Amino acid sequence: MTRKILILPGDGIGPEIMQHAVRVLEAARDRYGFEVELEHALVGGAAIDAEGTPLPATTLELARAADAVLLGAVGGPKWDALPTAQRPERGLLGLRSNLELFANLRPAILFPQLASASSLKPELVSGLDILILRELTGGIYFGEPRGVERDASGQRRGFNTYVYTESEIRRIARLGFELAGARGKRLCSVDKANVLEVTALWREIVDEEARNFPDIELSHMYVDNAGMQLVRAPKQFDVIVTGNMFGDILSDVAAMLTGSLGMLPSAALDANSKGMYEPVHGSAPDIAGKNLANPLATLLSIAMMFRYTFAQARLADELEGAVSDVLDAGLRTRDIAQGESASVQLVGTDAMTDAVIKAFSQRLDAS
Ligand code: IPM
Ligand code: MG
Repeated sequence: MTRKILILPGDGIGPEIMQHAVRVLEAARDRYGFEVELEHALVGGAAIDAEGTPLPATTLELARAADAVLLGAVGGPKWDALPTAQRPERGLLGLRSNLELFANLRPAILFPQLASASSLKPELVSGLDILILRELTGGIYFGEPRGVERDASGQRRGFNTYVYTESEIRRIARLGFELAGARGKRLCSVDKANVLEVTALWREIVDEEARNFPDIELSHMYVDNAGMQLVRAPKQFDVIVTGNMFGDILSDVAAMLTGSLGMLPSAALDANSKGMYEPVHGSAPDIAGKNLANPLATLLSIAMMFRYTFAQARLADELEGAVSDVLDAGLRTRDIAQGESASVQLVGTDAMTDAVIKAFSQRLDAS
């Protein structure tokens, strides 16, 4: 069976990371017989420059035809002046909604080797392993009506709509319970039910679904408190399920607990486990083209792809293990070198990727 993977390098540090990261797939093919066919296409600012739109029809078609999509990052100052509807980010949002990738898994796992790179005290984060499940195709990101208009007095007025249907809430809640069932058996649903009707409905539906999962311990938390708890005592969480915007914010907070945004992978899945995989970090235009970017979030995203879309737990385990091996060996990109002793070796995007691929290949050969 040949799997089709669409590679969307995007903007900023996306292309340079992707250029190296795809070699992991070659290693999986050569050492493990994991047959893949790669296609490449444009998205985001790169697509705006080449074709005048952040999500060209050909890109969307290829994404639909693919079994999985691997995306770098989109956006940059060059396109910041464009109106919201034409910005690079629209490419990403368009892929999410057109492919119905409603479930966004954002694990925040602290590699023990990086405890000193976290902004929190090591004892607060050591052993951290939480999963943020973010609803990705609804909520205020996509609600209508939206826009900026002039009111009767001639003043401009901007508005968005925060909306969730019962079925949208139910399917993400259900997945939250299932994911919790496969790990720590605790689910925390985050909302703002004290103020927003839409999230009061969210809470009601999550409570209803809880009846189907009696072995999962469910709690509810307001989003402001959840933000506070994540920096106060993050290890209290197992799986967090929340809406699109709250999930966007909380996942950046959780990311920082692990030392760097450069470490966090993500998966965006549809109902059939087709997925788009991308690092949580952005396009980091300030360091683009300098061989400074941390490729580990992208490599760990490929591990998630092995696990969730292709059901190749072995490849996923060995790739995650290879990342850990390389951290053990003391290799660090600049973003994860903070607070470290002189024994670490500062490396660039290319050398970091080479080292992971080497460790991954050795692991595959060893068995
Ligand atoms: C993310 C990003 C995106 C989002 C942006 C780039 C549109 O911040 O994936 O978290 O807000 O979803
Ligand atoms: Mg974000």
